[in-house]
Amino acid sequence: MPAHDRSALPPPAPSLPRPLAVADLPGLLQVQRACYGEGFEESHAVFLRRLACPTQCSLALARDGRLVAYLAAYRSVGAKVTPLHGDFEPAEAPDTLYLHDMAVSPALAGQGLARVLLQAAWATARSEGLRHSALVSVQGSQGYWARHGYAPAPLQHAVQRQRLATYGEGAVYMVRALTED
Ligand SMILES: CC(C)(COP(=O)(O)OP(=O)(O)OC[C@H]1O[C@@H](n2cnc3c(N)ncnc32)[C@H](O)[C@@H]1OP(=O)(O)O)[C@@H](O)C(=O)NCCC(=O)NCCS
Repeated sequence: MPAHDRSALPPPAPSLPRPLAVADLPGLLQVQRACYGEGFEESHAVFLRRLACPTQCSLALARDGRLVAYLAAYRSVGAKVTPLHGDFEPAEAPDTLYLHDMAVSPALAGQGLARVLLQAAWATARSEGLRHSALVSVQGSQGYWARHGYAPAPLQHAVQRQRLATYGEGAVYMVRALTED
């Protein structure tokens, strides 16, 4: 095989998940833009504020030094929704790993990158004693999250339902226990 022929080689593995950093934000915005339709794009400024939240635990996956997937997450409490474009609000006694946003570069979809991010986040959350994980499913991803153990959960409080409504029609609040994978 000629030295320049890489077609027979397996694709290079992405790095292990690491904490999302401020320097990742330009790459994050690129992945976000590639993954979401108009209306769901969140700004550099809001991600910067989220990274400054003391309870955030967001993760990044990079390949060749470039961000290819991210999970924006923080330690929160049950039945509480982060609205679109909203800040991560620190909770006094967190019990829930809140997954605000996860996206994988479309060029690398279907290779298990999202699963790697999820499993790392769940493992850390369990080790910290968090008992649940929650999220808002958008873009028809409810089936994806159901396969990862999340089920729709009702929101009793009007404020939280209003926050959910910022994601438009079809957004669903979902929860799973963190007792097992
Ligand atoms: C959803 C997403 C994060 C999955 O990333 P990924 O690295 O491709 O996921 P994995 O490789 O771990 O898993 C891929 C599997 O999920 C399935 N899947 C991906 N998106 C799905 C969706 N919207 N609904 C149902 N299943 C979906 C794939 O068909 C694949 O199934 P298979 O394992 O049977 O082949 C990625 O597709 C993405 O960034 N989507 C756009 C952003 C988004 O919608 N995020 C979730 C918002 S709540």
